[in-house]
Amino acid sequence: MADKTYKIAVLPGDGTGPEVVAEGMKVLNAAAKKFGFQLESDTFDWGGERYLATGSVLPEDAAETLKKYDAVFLGAIGHPKVKPGVLEKGILLKLRFDLDQYINLRPVKLYPGVETPLANKGPEDIDYVVVRENVGDVYCGIGGTSQQGTKQEVAVQEMVYSYFQVERCIRFAFEEARRRHSKDNPWRGLSPEDIAAGKIAQVTLCGKTNVLTYVFGLWERVFHEVAADYPDVKTAYCHVDATCMWMIKNPEWFDVLVTSNMFGDIITDLAAMTQGGMGTAAGGNINPEGVSMFEPIGGSAPKYTGLGVINPLAAIGAGAMMLDFLGEKEAAAAIERSIAYVTGNKLKSVAAGKMGYSTSEVGDLVVENL
Ligand code: IPM
Ligand code: MN
Repeated sequence: MADKTYKIAVLPGDGTGPEVVAEGMKVLNAAAKKFGFQLESDTFDWGGERYLATGSVLPEDAAETLKKYDAVFLGAIGHPKVKPGVLEKGILLKLRFDLDQYINLRPVKLYPGVETPLANKGPEDIDYVVVRENVGDVYCGIGGTSQQGTKQEVAVQEMVYSYFQVERCIRFAFEEARRRHSKDNPWRGLSPEDIAAGKIAQVTLCGKTNVLTYVFGLWERVFHEVAADYPDVKTAYCHVDATCMWMIKNPEWFDVLVTSNMFGDIITDLAAMTQGGMGTAAGGNINPEGVSMFEPIGGSAPKYTGLGVINPLAAIGAGAMMLDFLGEKEAAAAIERSIAYVTGNKLKSVAAGKMGYSTSEVGDLVVENL
């Protein structure tokens, strides 16, 4: 039988994006060779440089183009010479919307050997996943302003959620909880010993039902409705402010944390710091029925551009998530194990410029230990 072939659209983007994407592709290609599948990739130059040169943020048919691929691999969007919001809204958010990538999946995982600012917490304590709704909420762009620029200015930006959006997001979270702990998950699955010790899958809803009673009233009702279909999964609820507290104090309480777009944006930066910073934080913009886009969540880090000091592990981890999502579970798990080996045995630090290796050497180390 011929090897399976996956078509990947590569969007290196701005700043250090191209450097980390190159390492990601290096590792993905090595994994393809080892695990018997093929990757065919096309690269698109969408980002700040193209915008400055042409005045176009994205080609009109960008989403249609990407729909011809099995997945999208993104470096970073954000350019110091472009006003904040133009590229973020014009590229990243636009693609999330147009491809209906309604889930932002962010694993929070402290790799071995990585320093966390949380006292007395280790890799066994910091290992959960945030399921962030990715297209609704204040991100939907409904709102307006009047008398702008005067002292009478009024601005409104609405938190909007439909039953449909909330239901599909929460259902994804419960499916993720089952998937995370299933026997076919070679990396994160619970062992028989774990299960004997009483560990089971849990989904925690993070909301604000004490103030945002309309929106999170809806989330809470749908949460219980969906939970009824998953009697094997435990449920919990935390207000978003308390969630921040527990993420620092008792991160081991979390397994799958499901939340709205804005809260998810905020808590996942906090979560990334608990896993040692942006160096290893990966994410996926997922449309389970369509084309998904995987990215390191750290941004374009312009000050490190071209120096070969940026940590590529977040991009490599995003590549592993992409393979997992494409169904190449063994290859994905092997990459994750290799990342863990490299952080545990090789790197001095996961921070840019402090790794003890260059960007491309870190990519090589992950390949060598696959
Ligand atoms: C993220 C980013 C984006 C967001 C920005 C760049 C629009 O912060 O992916 O978390 O707010 O979603
Ligand atoms: Mn963010």
